Amino acid sequence: METIILNHIDLDQDDRLIKAARVLKDNGTVVFPTETVYGLGANALDEKAIAKIYKAKGRPSDNPLIVHVASEKQVDDLVEEVPIRAKQIMEAFWPGPLTIILKKNPDISDVVTGGLDTIAIRMPSNKIALKIIEHSGLPIAAPSANISGRPSPTQEEHVIKDLDGRVDMIVCGGKTVFGLESTVLDLTTSPALILRPGSITLDDIKRVINDVTMDPGLNEKMKDHVKPRSPGMKYTHYSPDAEVILFEGKENAISEAIKDQLIHLPSHLKIGILATEEMALEYLKEADNIITLGKRSEPGDIGAMLFKALRDFDELGVDIILAEGIEAVGVGEAVMNRLRKAASNIIRV
Ligand code: TXA
Ligand code: MG
Repeated sequence: METIILNHIDLDQDDRLIKAARVLKDNGTVVFPTETVYGLGANALDEKAIAKIYKAKGRPSDNPLIVHVASEKQVDDLVEEVPIRAKQIMEAFWPGPLTIILKKNPDISDVVTGGLDTIAIRMPSNKIALKIIEHSGLPIAAPSANISGRPSPTQEEHVIKDLDGRVDMIVCGGKTVFGLESTVLDLTTSPALILRPGSITLDDIKRVINDVTMDPGLNEKMKDHVKPRSPGMKYTHYSPDAEVILFEGKENAISEAIKDQLIHLPSHLKIGILATEEMALEYLKEADNIITLGKRSEPGDIGAMLFKALRDFDELGVDIILAEGIEAVGVGEAVMNRLRKAASNIIRV
């Protein structure tokens, strides 16, 4: 299929955003930027349109999609009811990088929700995304715009690499701001559960509703016989071509362990190192193929760079990535969640 690529979109170009909305109204697929990662959008009310998303991504169809809206009013038709705490959460965090799970309106197709009786909804804050959704007048289902299992795309080059020729249109909008997918908050349970950590943290949410906690199963690798609450959790994720080995523990112990691996791994393998600025400057000055993400104290910066770095290692052609873990608090929780999923081996030192 030929993909139309709209370059250098700016917000005054309403005619181009209307064109993108037209494709969605015609049940086609449009990739657009959001503040988290790029999304692969289609009409959430049309099963054939949704099928195109799964096909383009190569995504298993029991993995449900997030439905994107441009106004709170659009939520009413998607759900059974909007409970008070959902209203409070929307008021506090929308538009923005937070997805809520509510009981779905039975009229919404199981194809969108992977057969669940709940639905994931979010209002992005990216203006291009909002305008396209608004012009379409539709709820837009949109998973991250990567081939299933690959790191989520945080800039248009990533999208073009994965999806050119597989979708009807790609709307370019530069780099995304947060670089990690939205926080997913299940509001059908008591306490409410964070199913996927993101840039909006547990503490942020606690300031609005008291009764909320991290999903206890979050960082476990899913066992086959356990039915995961969020079906996306059981699939491998964010995997670059290289194998990721993640190190967790004290900074100097991690640096020793990485140096040790550099000496002992077979010499025909090309090794990449993913590290904080501190680690790179203090301990690993001599290392080749090192990509630094930001300061340890700024997990938000690290999150913004993480998926790009994983893709950059593939461009470098490394076989193995030795990744420095950071403290899993605040946005660091989201960073470590993604790194643990990308890793085939976690070494605690
Ligand atoms: O930031 C984001 O959320 C991006 C941008 C494009 O908005 N979207 C995104 O979508 O990350 P996706 O499809 O890659 O991830 C959606 C996650 C999956 O882990 C999925 O299993 C979970 O949300 N999910 C969707 N509907 C659910 C539901 N009804 N119950 C539990 N988990 C659900
Ligand atoms: Mg995804």
